[in-house]
Amino acid sequence: MAKHLLRLSDFSGEELFAYIDRAIALKREAAAGMRHTQLAGKTVALIFEKASTRTRVSFEAAMYGMGGQVIFLSAKETQLARSEPLKDTALVMSRYVDGLVVRTFGQDVVAELARYASIPVINALTDLFHPCQVLSDIMTVLEKKGTLANLKVAWVGDGNNMANSWVQAAAILGFELVLACPEGYDPEKTILQEAETVAEGRISVVRDPVAAVRGADVINTDVWASMGQEGEQEERLKIFQGFQVDTELLGYAAPDCIVLHCLPAHRGEEISTEVLEGPQCVAFDQAENKLHIHKAILEKHIA
Ligand code: CP
Ligand code: NVA
Repeated sequence: MAKHLLRLSDFSGEELFAYIDRAIALKREAAAGMRHTQLAGKTVALIFEKASTRTRVSFEAAMYGMGGQVIFLSAKETQLARSEPLKDTALVMSRYVDGLVVRTFGQDVVAELARYASIPVINALTDLFHPCQVLSDIMTVLEKKGTLANLKVAWVGDGNNMANSWVQAAAILGFELVLACPEGYDPEKTILQEAETVAEGRISVVRDPVAAVRGADVINTDVWASMGQEGEQEERLKIFQGFQVDTELLGYAAPDCIVLHCLPAHRGEEISTEVLEGPQCVAFDQAENKLHIHKAILEKHIA
């Protein structure tokens, strides 16, 4: 198994299912009151260059919940903000802690840290990918649907970091994924091309949200302007009109379709309040599962 968790495409389907199986077991054990100590004596540093509520707290709670410790660093308060090279940061951190969990802009930043670190580097979101989130999402789908076999998953909205990781997940795990994105907002071309070499037509991009969600078992959406794109917010609000997951759109999906959103959500933009707070939405189960999947990831990479 890869030492670092930078993107899902570095892993086999078996390895991705192993994280999820372990997270489901850890969730069950925690609910039964079992105490975990696998990470006693281990310390992880979180280096975050972007805001976070769920990912930060769930990684920290996961470490503490298994007997480990964390050091949280807001990147702008480190020497990175004063141009210390990533290489030197990786070399130094490797002498202090047992792992790095990093949220940043460029995927090249996590790749560079991983290149020089002797400790595992875990991607907690970049502009390109959000791999740990998509593992929690797929865990949630499995809990609700029992299997990924024969599922149609729809993505409605921006072809962003979440969409890119979903494309990689679909290629590796073998489910159908139809993405509806406005022209110019597709997932990264090279990621789609790479995925298509193994997906054999199971991944497609369309322009019409109704076509994407027709008969879907899972609908997934995310904000129209991601972190770092705040300056495009107004323009994106106009471009993404018609891409809201609302009750009308949900009506085209399978009757037992579930709706995913990694949160934070912008009610009235990419998702209506009615759908986000309705019975088919599993966003808060996804949020909980981040804790369990992060435990499984830390256990596999750090313990
Ligand atoms: N879903 C997610 O990554 O949330 P945060 O930005 O709050 O960490
Ligand atoms: N696509 C969003 C996900 C937030 C968890 C962003 O990058 O801001």
